[in-house]
Amino acid sequence: MGHQVFLLFACTIIALLASCSLLVSAEVVEHSFHVQNRTITRLCRRQVITAVNGSLPGPTIRVNEGDTLLVHVYNHSPYNLTIHWHGVFQLLSGWADGPEFATQCPIRPGHSYTYRFKVTGQEGTLWWHAHVSWLRATVHGALIIRPKKGHFYPFPKPYREVPILLGEWWNANVVDVENEALASGAAPNNSDAYTINGWPGDLYRCSANRENYTQIKFS
Ligand SMILES: *[C@@H]1O[C@H](CO)[C@@H](O)[C@H](O)[C@H]1NC(C)=O
Ligand SMILES: *[C@@H]1O[C@H](CO)[C@@H](O)[C@H](O)[C@H]1NC(C)=O
Ligand SMILES: *[C@@H]1O[C@H](CO)[C@@H](O)[C@H](O)[C@H]1NC(C)=O
Ligand SMILES: *[C@@H]1O[C@H](CO)[C@@H](O)[C@H](O)[C@H]1NC(C)=O
Ligand SMILES: *[C@@H]1O[C@H](CO)[C@@H](O)[C@H](O)[C@H]1NC(C)=O
Repeated sequence: MGHQVFLLFACTIIALLASCSLLVSAEVVEHSFHVQNRTITRLCRRQVITAVNGSLPGPTIRVNEGDTLLVHVYNHSPYNLTIHWHGVFQLLSGWADGPEFATQCPIRPGHSYTYRFKVTGQEGTLWWHAHVSWLRATVHGALIIRPKKGHFYPFPKPYREVPILLGEWWNANVVDVENEALASGAAPNNSDAYTINGWPGDLYRCSANRENYTQIKFS
């Protein structure tokens, strides 16, 4: 009898611990984005771009469903800027959605802003990008939402996972490209290359150093 009571007691404790651990499994994932000038070489030309933490694409953000994401954005660039969390359901956190002059004023140069929202009811790979002018061409990155801890995607664990971001590259300051089109009323200049994870493919001709156009980097 004594044993049974003890067992019941022990089971209750284990059940409580299990449900507690489910409750605490949602985490607060915190990151900083430093948006700044970066000079990079593409198509054999040096070009100043606006980038998060100096990388193109920007950092990959990884969360589990149910986590709260907190991103401090420091704008060291010369441009107004916001960040949009593309495809994220902003439930009761509409102010964190990002479109400039829709849910917030732009973050001015030299200022910062903290985005805070819970990632709920969705899994998979989305992306984040600047939601001001054409800065999104270089200010973007992957946002990977894994299932809640203890849950799995509905397919076998892959051998390896690689985020692939398809983009476009201009041999120009993209803000100038946009402003020129706005001023003239004509279509903006076409991009000079399509890119995979920020790199033009092997078929783009380049007169100088091969290393800078054959390399595809996976972040
Ligand atoms: C961005 O750079 C800052 C400063 O080096 C660093 O503290 C931060 O962790 C970086 N953020 C990401 C998301 O990698
Ligand atoms: C950043 O780049 C822009 C565009 O090329 C330039 O106008 C600005 O002076 C640069 N700012 C800094 C701090 O280097
Ligand atoms: C930059 O953002 C501020 C508010 O954050 C706004 O007053 C100003 O008009 C914006 N500038 C441009 C060029 O959009
Ligand atoms: C757009 O293309 C035209 C024609 O090639 C060029 O003269 C102009 O400088 C380009 N604009 C920008 C902002 O790069
Ligand atoms: C090629 O890229 C590397 C790394 O980004 C850089 O250090 C080097 O200067 C580049 N070479 C040329 C010829 O642009």
